[in-house]
Amino acid sequence: MSTLENIVILTGAGISAESGIQTFRDAGGLWEGHAVEQVATPEGFAADPVLVHRFYNLRRAALGTVEPNAAHIALGKLQSEFPGQVTLVTQNVDDLHERGGASDVIHMHGELLSAFCTACNYRWREAEDLTVETACPACQTVGGPRPDIVWFGEMPYEMDRIERALQNCDLFVSIGTSGAVYPAAGFVHLAKTCGARTLELNLEPSQGSGAFREARHGSATQLVPEWVDSLL
Ligand code: APR
Repeated sequence: MSTLENIVILTGAGISAESGIQTFRDAGGLWEGHAVEQVATPEGFAADPVLVHRFYNLRRAALGTVEPNAAHIALGKLQSEFPGQVTLVTQNVDDLHERGGASDVIHMHGELLSAFCTACNYRWREAEDLTVETACPACQTVGGPRPDIVWFGEMPYEMDRIERALQNCDLFVSIGTSGAVYPAAGFVHLAKTCGARTLELNLEPSQGSGAFREARHGSATQLVPEWVDSLL
C-alpha cells in the first residue's frame, strides 16, 4: 500500500447530530420549521431580514448549549497528531470542530460566529445577536451587517484551496453528509479522478455513496474515532 501523506476530510450536519444539532434533510426539507428559501437565500433575507436574523440568532445562541462529540474530538486529534497533512473542510456553520481541538477548519458555508457588512464587506467575529438595527463596527451603516453564512445561490468559501487539496490528496473521507448539495457533493469525483482513495462514513448510504471506493455505515461517534485510531 502506498504511504498516506495528504488527507482531505469533508464533514456535514451528520457529524454534529449527536451533539444535538438537527441535520437538514432529515427534517423533511424544513430547517427548524422554515422553508429553505425563507432563511437561506439572499432573496429571503431581502424579503424578511427580521425573520432571517431571528433564525440565525437562535442558532448562534444554541451553540452555547451543545458540546463537541467523540467524532469532532477524534478529528481534532488526527489534525494535531497525524504526521502528514489533514485538510478539514466542513459544510457546518457551528464551531464544534474548533472546540473539538481542530486547529485549521475550512468553513465552506460560513460560520454562525462570524458576520459581515453588506455595505463595506468588513468581516468580524460575532457572538451576539444581529438585528436590522445593528450598525457595522467599521463603516457604521445601520442594517448593513448580515450573518456570514453562504446561502443558496452564493459562492462557497475557499474553493481554490479546497480544490488544490483534493487534487493532491491520497485519501478523501466524507463524514455525515447527504451528498445532496454541490459543489461539496462533487469533491469525491475530483479526488478520485486525481488518484485518491475514497471513504464514506455516514449513518446510511448517502446519495453519492456509490462514488466511494469504501463506505462504512453507522453513527459518527462510533465510526470516526475507530477510523482515526486505525490511522494513528
Ligand atoms: N452519524 C453519521 N451520519 C449521520 C448521523 C450520525 N449520527 N445523523 C445523520 N447522519 C447523516 C444522514 O444520514 C445524512 O446523510 O448525515 C447526513 C446529513 O445530511 P444533510 O442533513 O443533508 O446535511 P449536509 O449534507 O451537511 O447538508 C449540506 O446543505 O442545506 C445545506 O448549507 C446546508 O451545509 C448544508 C448543506
